[in-house]
Amino acid sequence: MHEVFETVAAAVPDIRAGLPGRRRKTDEENASGETQLAADVWADELLEERLTALDSVGAYASEERDDVVDAGDGVSVAVDPLDGSSNLKSNNPMGTVVGVYDAPLPASGTGLVAAGFVLYGPITTMVVAEGAAGRPASDATATEYVVEDGTPRDVGAVELPEDPTVYGFGGRVPDWTDDFEAFVREVEDELKLRYGGAMIADVSQVLTYGGIFGYPGLRDRPEGKLRLLFEGAPIAYVVEAAGGASTDGERSLLDVPATRLHQRTPVFVGDDAYVERVESL
Ligand code: F6P
Repeated sequence: MHEVFETVAAAVPDIRAGLPGRRRKTDEENASGETQLAADVWADELLEERLTALDSVGAYASEERDDVVDAGDGVSVAVDPLDGSSNLKSNNPMGTVVGVYDAPLPASGTGLVAAGFVLYGPITTMVVAEGAAGRPASDATATEYVVEDGTPRDVGAVELPEDPTVYGFGGRVPDWTDDFEAFVREVEDELKLRYGGAMIADVSQVLTYGGIFGYPGLRDRPEGKLRLLFEGAPIAYVVEAAGGASTDGERSLLDVPATRLHQRTPVFVGDDAYVERVESL
């Protein structure tokens, strides 16, 4: 396992233990204009300190800070320290998302050599997809670990089930385009709704039961809500490594050109056939 993920796993008990006292909001907004929770800021600082201390890490970027932190030579790590942190107030699942890019940031998903996530659910787990520079995500392998005590314990390969069962799409229905709403009306008759408001938890449902997760472009925000470097590309890498597909509506999320560190993109990941239907809209 790449030492980035060993370090993330080792930080998990500390992150988890620090959550109960950090539900309040700060007065700050992150680079994407969202109010930060004390937990967002704290998890970001903890991961920055530990990841930039690694010899193999040359840069650290996170959803919670404006600029890339230079750490010398090595891979670039892009982190969403607490994905779905608004779930902290209601005590629902959240995650940490990590992309390891063999390129300076901003970089597109073709620069990813590994990606993964921690899911703070009833059990704390970590899924890691590891590949190699210049190789497609479909050549990478995705593995699930239990990381309760900070030491990853391999619990098996992650493979997207062939029969799709669940779906979850973000955003309010009135904000969806007519085409997208019509598509969802079809999907509602075919699959079962599972949506919890944290991308990692919702994608984990898809990886477990098969189906599709998406956060579409909205009428007044065609770029959608999720960030390409910190959320869209890393989760696409994991899902494609697990045998699924991804799209921004036109092409794999791994092929979306990256022009800005905090750029947003529509995100769809999961079952091949459903991803193709999104592309044909
Ligand atoms: O990036 C933030 C995030 O919390 C994602 O984890 C999640 O998929 C999405 O926002 C939920 O957004 P909404 O509250 O609009 O459903």
